[in-house]
Amino acid sequence: MKPFEGTKPFYRDSTQCVESRVEDLLGRMTLEEKIGQMCQYTRYPENYEELVRAGKVGSLFNVTGAEQTNNVQRIAVEQSRLGIPLIFGLDVIHGYSTIYPIPLAIASSWDPEMAKKAASIAAAEAFSEGVCWTFAPMVDIARDPRWGRVAEGAGEDPYLGSAMARALVEGYQGEDLADPDTIVACPKHYVAYGGAEGGRDYNTVEVSERTLRDVYLPPFKAAVEAGAGTLMSAFNDLNGVPASANRFTLTTILREEWGFEGFVVSDWNSIGELVSHGIAGTRAQAGKEAVEAGVDMDMEGNVYQTTLARLVEEGAVSEETVDDAVRRILTIKFRMGLFDRPYTDTSLATEVVQCKEYIEATRDFARRSMVLLKNENGVLPLKKDLKIVVVIGPLADEQDALLGCWPCMGKPEDVVTVLEGIKNKVSEETDVLHAKGCDIQGDSTEGLKDAADKAEVADVAIVVVGESREMSGEAGCRSTLDLPGVQEKLVRDICDTGVPVVMVLLNGRPMSISWPAEHVPAILEAWHPGIQGGNAVADLLFGDFNPVGRLPVTFPRTVGQVPIYYNHKNTGRPPTPLLYTSKYIDLPSTPLFPFGHGLSYTQFEYSNLKISPQKITPDSEVEISLDVKNVGDRKGDEVVQLYLRDLVGSVTRPVKELKRFKRTTLKSGEKTTVKFVVGPEQLAFVNRGMERVVEPGAFEVMVGGSSEDIRLTGGFEVT
Ligand code: GLC
Repeated sequence: MKPFEGTKPFYRDSTQCVESRVEDLLGRMTLEEKIGQMCQYTRYPENYEELVRAGKVGSLFNVTGAEQTNNVQRIAVEQSRLGIPLIFGLDVIHGYSTIYPIPLAIASSWDPEMAKKAASIAAAEAFSEGVCWTFAPMVDIARDPRWGRVAEGAGEDPYLGSAMARALVEGYQGEDLADPDTIVACPKHYVAYGGAEGGRDYNTVEVSERTLRDVYLPPFKAAVEAGAGTLMSAFNDLNGVPASANRFTLTTILREEWGFEGFVVSDWNSIGELVSHGIAGTRAQAGKEAVEAGVDMDMEGNVYQTTLARLVEEGAVSEETVDDAVRRILTIKFRMGLFDRPYTDTSLATEVVQCKEYIEATRDFARRSMVLLKNENGVLPLKKDLKIVVVIGPLADEQDALLGCWPCMGKPEDVVTVLEGIKNKVSEETDVLHAKGCDIQGDSTEGLKDAADKAEVADVAIVVVGESREMSGEAGCRSTLDLPGVQEKLVRDICDTGVPVVMVLLNGRPMSISWPAEHVPAILEAWHPGIQGGNAVADLLFGDFNPVGRLPVTFPRTVGQVPIYYNHKNTGRPPTPLLYTSKYIDLPSTPLFPFGHGLSYTQFEYSNLKISPQKITPDSEVEISLDVKNVGDRKGDEVVQLYLRDLVGSVTRPVKELKRFKRTTLKSGEKTTVKFVVGPEQLAFVNRGMERVVEPGAFEVMVGGSSEDIRLTGGFEVT
């Protein structure tokens, strides 16, 4: 194959519009070169130089470092016939090297602007290291916390999930795909991957089209509207047609209804797995199913590479279908500026990666992501000059776990542990003792006595428990939500000493911590908080930061309650003390901690709810305002949450749905008026005919500090 040379062909002329450049280049490509653009491989596939030189590779992922990406890029750009640059992808899920809290924690901040900032930092670090595409944000709604990937998303709610999806896409991509320090986003896993039966990863998903449209699709739609350049198709079977072969979702909804113009990459060999699903008897049939459904690029499946040419030659797949896929891929590569600036400045990384500004920002992301679940009798905040503090637990001096799932290029040695964070925080006179007590998993109890002995002499015991990072994330599914191993026994033993106990949870999912919730006076949900997690925990425990986080997921009392989520239907027999109603006979029907829950070191009072007008037409808006006052003794944030209930619909409607939220910071004694406007977008739902409509009828308005802590109620009517 002759290497690219000679005068500048039209598609190389950066003054021309992208569309024309794409058509010019497409017209020059052989079928083999077109299919090459549809092929993505991890790291360095066997004889990769030859493959790249032959134009048989469109993308590599898991190649990092500007030197490394430039080396391969030179082969593609300077030695292949048409010089089409590669796009380098990576799972930059919550930071590149400066690892910040897992996405579920970021969602707990209920702060889209913060999420956007976090993504922009991750993008700048990744960009400086030659990565120009991230397989993020993960926007799968998850209602089953047994599913390990609940850690990677924004929880159970479509509205909060959509707000986070939009913010993260904007953070990664900036204003323009060609902007420096930005990377192309890839919302995943399209679609309804979080609905896996039993919370078991890769498992079957059966959801109605209405639930698909009202619950699982909205965050993807928000991401597409935010301009996401790519999207990843999921592994799961979806109502009998796997998501990576589902033309209804990949083309009818995504492209025809939403107008998505980017390209779709499969998940890892999710095309090849169509054979295992049993909807393709051969890999060639799998290739045909996927490309005709709308999957443009084959991640690490080698199906397109080995089957598409023949399918086209035999007429089983039209070359026009291939052209459509390649056109979408080339369009993104041109829009990113890859043809005009294919190489990375190798001097960037030293100034950018783990710079002081980013590390400090990561500490703030962690602080704002933590949720104060319980604080009886004001045990927290602690005094910094206590005589003896004992830090106990398998995660007290743990580094690796705090990186969380998908740690990208993060290193455990970069992590500040909770023990270190506390030592950094307390006074010189304070004696900080440490006892591991037990392991994260396993049934050894030999360390419990040492821990209890140290607790006996302490003024307070901070017990740090939770999960390793492998216990959530991909394939990290658990059949129980309990504290692993003998950790709960450790908590009980420390409580039995009579010392005041503060429990810190470092985990990747909601956990059924029923006993601690009843017996431990203070509990801080810190998630897997990233490299500054230890300092952030100490900032909150010792009062240098007033907790602002709120739960984006429901905490069940036990795994037996799953699925349990706040925006559920009422049923014909909602749970009451009466026997024949929808409940368990051995457990309350309420969650352990509800969606939206989170305490502060101060308190807030709600008053003066106004709803105007009281009657609206289906296409108009209503304003809902209220006053919030800080009635405590220190400054703090309140996340004012607005829930609506459509009391009567042509289909059953949830008992409440989050439709707006607003964080407000108030000094002690300060009062403010919070205003919300809701209109057709917030009132609409999918009716019996599968159309999104606003129906006439009464709506209940609920405003409060969580889905259960409703402080003010009212209503309005759609006429
Ligand atoms: C994995 C994950 C996906 C990830 C991809 C590349 O299997 O499902 O989220 O982006 O492979 O690592």
